[in-house]
Amino acid sequence: MLQAERAGGALLPEYHRATPECPEPGRWRMYDSMTAEFEVLEFLRTLVTTLKPKLIVETGAFLGASTVWMAEGLRRNGEGRIVSCEFDPVVYAKAREKIAASGLAEWIDLRNASSLEMQVQGSIDLLFSDSDLEIREQEVRRFLPQMNPQGLILMHDASSHPGTVRQAALKMESEGLLSVVLLPTPRGLAIAQKKPGEGNCLG
Ligand SMILES: C[S@@+](CC[C@H](N)C(=O)[O-])C[C@H]1O[C@@H](n2cnc3c(N)ncnc32)[C@H](O)[C@@H]1O
Repeated sequence: MLQAERAGGALLPEYHRATPECPEPGRWRMYDSMTAEFEVLEFLRTLVTTLKPKLIVETGAFLGASTVWMAEGLRRNGEGRIVSCEFDPVVYAKAREKIAASGLAEWIDLRNASSLEMQVQGSIDLLFSDSDLEIREQEVRRFLPQMNPQGLILMHDASSHPGTVRQAALKMESEGLLSVVLLPTPRGLAIAQKKPGEGNCLG
């Protein structure tokens, strides 16, 4: 959070280490090392305007940047809502301030809750999993039964370093739960869709 405050909203070169799939991360930009890469924020907004989701679920709001970028897409669409969560109360309070200042609060339901406990009603059209690396697999398994079969699951930080999220995505694919595409961005982005079948209905 300090890094984000010091940068004061300025864009910096992305400094995630080079990986075999993304050998020149410095060609991307970032606000700070927690907020998704700037280009990924743009991509999220474009996905929202392209897919017109009615319900987006995000895990891990941090300061609300990705939440606000997706909400901007909803505003352009003129419909939909995003339910997001941040379990750290101090960070949550800051995110609320940012969202209030963005003018996009009407599209956002931000909760001070854990992604592994928050209850969301309805069919999820877009899931953006961006909390702690170690629990991304649990999050996806938890929300999978609620996913619209045409919907998209995005797992951020799916690069080969450190590989935790990438392995989780590929493991769920090998179990027949997901079809996965790995985007070679600095921190990595897995885009998945649930596969039809019994296995994905067990939660
Ligand atoms: C990588 S940051 C999210 C960045 C944000 N999505 C963005 O791109 O602007 C991860 C955030 O998830 C929060 N977090 C970690 N585990 C969580 C959980 N189980 N439920 C909700 N938030 C969690 C952390 O406190 C942290 O602020």
